[in-house]
Amino acid sequence: MTTSASTLRARKRRDGATPIVMVTAYDEPTARYADAAGVDALLVGDSLANVVLGHDDTLHVSTEDMAHHVRAVAAARPAAHVVADMPWLSYHVGVDAAVTHAGELIRAGAQSVKLEGGAVRRDVVRALISAEIPVMGHLGLTPQSVLAMGGYKVQGKTRDAAKLLLEDALVLQSEGVFCLVVEGVPRLVGTQLTRALDIPTIGIGAGPDTDGQVLVIHDLLGLTKRPPAKFVRRYADLGTAMTDAVARYAADVRNGSFPDDTESYETPEELRD
Ligand code: KIV
Repeated sequence: MTTSASTLRARKRRDGATPIVMVTAYDEPTARYADAAGVDALLVGDSLANVVLGHDDTLHVSTEDMAHHVRAVAAARPAAHVVADMPWLSYHVGVDAAVTHAGELIRAGAQSVKLEGGAVRRDVVRALISAEIPVMGHLGLTPQSVLAMGGYKVQGKTRDAAKLLLEDALVLQSEGVFCLVVEGVPRLVGTQLTRALDIPTIGIGAGPDTDGQVLVIHDLLGLTKRPPAKFVRRYADLGTAMTDAVARYAADVRNGSFPDDTESYETPEELRD
């Protein structure tokens, strides 16, 4: 049984639920290994643009790019819920286009979609939900707004800004989003949003009091080229492990010790002199 949006919708810590665990995944092996670890949700994030495709922001992926990676993640047949990010411009130019783009991600294997923004996305959220597509919200530091925000900056730092975030969150909840990602806000704002909402919050750089946490898997595994953000905890150094392994392979090829007899097919009798 895969984890549905409605199962996640019920995961409020104040009602006794354990915190929701979400990580990003962009390919079949990553989805398979993360699913084996028992995560609740796999986010095919548009961070694909940064951590897989090498761009400086998330503005450089299309719905087609996202669908390609959703198909790979879905091929792992995870028990975890698969949620796909709607990329920049796939839901900004009209409600009908947004439904079409979300439908492509669902047909690629996602069980829900995530989009950034609050009250301004009300019509889009309503249209997606009336097309039977579960929607996860995303507020706070919304990376698709990097140009408008003038960089990646912690949000909700003033009373007014925190109040606006709360208003946006309540609008998303009233429109029916099943869960809300809260990114890059002071701890207290993460706590207040979590308290004010009946839907679960999933934090990234929003402190420990949200109903769940999400990390970009490349950050968690030590596979990113930039120093990680303050909120990242690194659980492995796979980048170093990868370079060491490839360097040992290169040395073995160069010194003639790879491949050896056990790694070679036997010569059939007929080919022997
Ligand atoms: O694309 C992504 O990885 C995300 C997370 C940072 C929440 O949206």
